[in-house]
Amino acid sequence: MADLHVPLDRAKGGLAAQIATELRESIRSGRLVAGTRLPATRDLAADLAVSRGVVVEAYEQLVAEGFLLSVTGRGTQVSPLGAPARRSAPAAPTGPSQPPHYGHRPTSPDLGHFPRERWLASIRHVLTTAPVDALDYSDPGGVPELRRELAGYLRRVRAADVTEAGVVVVGGVAQGLSLVLHVLGPTTLAVEDPTSQRQLPLLRRAGARVVRVPVDDEGIDVEALARTGAKAVLLTPAHQYPTGVVLSPARRAQLIAWGGMVLEDDYDAELRFDRDPVGCLQGLAPDRVVLSGSVSKSMAPGLRLGWVVAPGSMAETIGLARGELDLGSPVIEQYALAHFLRSGGYDRHLRKMRREYRKRRDALVTALGEHLPEVTVKGIEAGLHAYLELPPGWDEAVAAEEATRLGLPAEGVAPMRERPGPPAVVVGFARLPAHRAAPAVRALKVRMSGQTID
Ligand SMILES: Cc1ncc(COP(=O)(O)O)c(C=O)c1O
Repeated sequence: MADLHVPLDRAKGGLAAQIATELRESIRSGRLVAGTRLPATRDLAADLAVSRGVVVEAYEQLVAEGFLLSVTGRGTQVSPLGAPARRSAPAAPTGPSQPPHYGHRPTSPDLGHFPRERWLASIRHVLTTAPVDALDYSDPGGVPELRRELAGYLRRVRAADVTEAGVVVVGGVAQGLSLVLHVLGPTTLAVEDPTSQRQLPLLRRAGARVVRVPVDDEGIDVEALARTGAKAVLLTPAHQYPTGVVLSPARRAQLIAWGGMVLEDDYDAELRFDRDPVGCLQGLAPDRVVLSGSVSKSMAPGLRLGWVVAPGSMAETIGLARGELDLGSPVIEQYALAHFLRSGGYDRHLRKMRREYRKRRDALVTALGEHLPEVTVKGIEAGLHAYLELPPGWDEAVAAEEATRLGLPAEGVAPMRERPGPPAVVVGFARLPAHRAAPAVRALKVRMSGQTID
């Protein structure tokens, strides 16, 4: 248990913020290393002669920001994700790629809610029941049990048109896209504008020549897509990243009529809150849509577990490519996910998280409406992020930095665009407990009031 040195200036007030600042700096500077257990709130409160609530508030703030982890039965620890990534100086870009970004993203889930017990039960089930041979090299396209479970799940929840043979197990949407592009060969790929700028290096490295197509309030502009001459398009129809727009029924129909290959990134589709479920495009045109999804938003990105649903012999070709490239995904986790799906654990977890995220989203939207009505909130029907259009004069990079500091991980949208647009930020609400939304938004308002560039 760490013995902490936390100097306080009682005359200044704001004791919880002072404690949080001191601990944050200690973690950033490496004085407190990952895994260090912090004193119980009662003990630290007694040491500092403050009320316990003050320490609880400081800890909660740092958990929301990702500096601390609260683990049931093991108290509060310094997060392994927080310190090192923040401390390392960014490496100089080499070649065409930007330095990779690890750690929290605005779209990351609240990992404090990872279903540790149930996942452990699934892993234990696998390790106690799997025959010895199950641990050998397996079908590089995925173990049959998981492909079967995923096919059933995707039919039921995403209205996909799929059987076990059409599913390939991959290490997330990112790897799924790499593999699909690999088997398509050099391709002119249309990509939404704006889009996730992190995906662009991946697409280019996989051999795609990227052309950008604007997105409006109905989703991708299909007429503009047709004018590019591209034979394939990558898009996020259920919840466009970053704008949060849902592809309208008219655009869906236009897209199907367009006739090219559609790579459907279904990255957060299960986390929908207000609108009726929108089935995936793959269910409408299974011969021309390749669907990719993963458990990165529903469970944890670090699991690196996802799927590709591909038409005809393409699923087999992707599996063969996987076999040649790296022999497939870890089998224990694949069997565990199959068990988690089969036993209803995945559905239960999703139901619980939907309720919780909805509360957090509502609290954020209410707080923004009350304290920052000049900000326009968009794209909140699903997923883990909101798209905030900023008032003229706000610097989006500054707004993103300040929001992130306040426990609302955010990114400016300018790097995601090819065409100019109004200043906006993507803000993740998954990690901010509902009761912290109003204080965070109020603090953001104060900080931004001194930053506007008129
Ligand atoms: C739009 C979008 N697609 C795909 C991904 C990557 O997902 P995965 O972890 O499944 O590779 C992300 C991750 O943040 C994302 O935001």
